[in-house]
Amino acid sequence: MKIPFGTIAVSKKSRRLIDGALDTLKLSSGRLVKDFEAGFAGLVGAKEAVAVSTGTDADILALAVLHDFGAKRGDEVIIPALSFVATGNAVLHAGFKPVFVDVERHTLNIDPKKIERAITARTRAIMPVHLMGKPADMDAINRIAKKHKLFVVEDAAEAHGAVYKGRNVGTLGDMAAYSLYIAHIITTIEGGIVTTNRPEFAEVLRSLRSHGRACKCRVCVVNTCGALCEKRFSYGEGSDIRFVFERIGYSCKMNELEAAVGLGSLDTYKKIIAKRRKNLLSMIAKFRKFAPWLTTIKEEKHEQIGPHAFAVILGEKAPFSRNELGVYLEKNGIETRHLFSSMPTQCPGFAFLKHKLGDFPNAEYIGNKGLHIGVHQDLGMRHVDYFIRKVEEFLAGKGIKF
Ligand SMILES: Cc1ncc(COP(=O)(O)O)c(C=O)c1O
Repeated sequence: MKIPFGTIAVSKKSRRLIDGALDTLKLSSGRLVKDFEAGFAGLVGAKEAVAVSTGTDADILALAVLHDFGAKRGDEVIIPALSFVATGNAVLHAGFKPVFVDVERHTLNIDPKKIERAITARTRAIMPVHLMGKPADMDAINRIAKKHKLFVVEDAAEAHGAVYKGRNVGTLGDMAAYSLYIAHIITTIEGGIVTTNRPEFAEVLRSLRSHGRACKCRVCVVNTCGALCEKRFSYGEGSDIRFVFERIGYSCKMNELEAAVGLGSLDTYKKIIAKRRKNLLSMIAKFRKFAPWLTTIKEEKHEQIGPHAFAVILGEKAPFSRNELGVYLEKNGIETRHLFSSMPTQCPGFAFLKHKLGDFPNAEYIGNKGLHIGVHQDLGMRHVDYFIRKVEEFLAGKGIKF
C-alpha cells in the first residue's frame, strides 16, 4: 500500500475553464482570478482576497503592505522559531528583521507567554503560524498586539478550514496569508492568497503584486475591463496610472489557468475537508496508545484543526531516531516530511542573524524529532489503519509493547 504525502484532482469544471481561457487567449491575471478571489473570500468570510503566485508571496506581500501604514525598512516582525522556512524568508524579503520566539511543544505554535519579552521599539507586527492547521492562541496574541499597537498577520498557509473559538482562521488578524500549493486543501497548483477585512490593505496588495502600480481597484484587473477606465489618465497631467509606480512592488500575479484549477477546488472544498478531517481525527485517536514514545497534536474544544497533515513527534525517551522511523515508514510506502526546523538555529541561511543552538529548545526539539505525513482526500480508513499497523510493527521491532 502507498500513502503519498499529497494529491490533486483537476475537476471537469477546471478543465472547461482552462480550455475556455486557451481558446480566448486570455491567460494572464483576469476574470477567473477575480472570480477565484471572490470565492475564496466568501469561503473564509473575509471582505477581500488578493491572489498571488505562491504562499511565500502571500506572506511577503501581507507584510510589505505595512510599509504604507507606518512601518520602516529594518523594523521587526515577531514570528515563531518553528515553521516552514518561507515564513522567515518572507519577513526578510518584505524588508523587515525576523525576531524569533520559541514554540510550545504540545501545540507546535508560537508560545504567547514569550512574545512580550521579544517586543522592542522597532516591532511592527506579530506573524503567528497555524502550523499543521492547528490555530495559534489568537486571543492572547491579539491582546498583546493591541497593547503594543502591533499588526497581526496570520500565516495560514497550512490552515485551510481551521476554526478558532467559532471564527474562521484567516479572519483573526489584520491579514492572513495562505499557500495554494499542490499539497494544500484548496490548490491552484502553485499559488497563494491574502485575505483581509480592510479594503485599504487589499488595494495596496493589488498594487504590490503588480510592481507597485497605482492601478489597484478591485473592479479593474488590467485585462478584464473593456471600457476606458475613467481613472486611467486622470492621475496627473498626462499620466497613465498603469505606469505610475507608487511603491516598491513585486511581480507575483496569479494567472488564469491557475485560477481555473482553484475555482474547481473551491467547489469540492467541503467534501475534501470532511474526508481529510475524518482521516486526521481518526489518526489522532488511534495514535494515542503510542505515547510516550510517539505523540501528536490534539484538537481542543475551542477549535477545529485544518486537516493539512498528521504530525508525529518522538518522545524524549524514545529508543530510536527520527531517521529510523522515517526510513521504516518510507520503505513501507508511507511518504514522510520533516516537521520543519528552528529557522534561526537549524537553517544555515539564517546564520547571519547569529543565534546559537539552544536558543529555541522546543523548536529545535521538533526540528530533530518531528515528522509529518499526508491525510489527504485520496486516503481512507484502510490507509489510516495501515499506517497505525506499520507504527505498531516498528515499535515492536524496538522491543516496545503497549
Ligand atoms: C507555514 C508555511 N508558510 C508559508 C508557506 C509557503 O507556501 P508556498 O510553498 O506556496 O510558497 C508554506 C508552504 O507550505 C508553509 O507551510
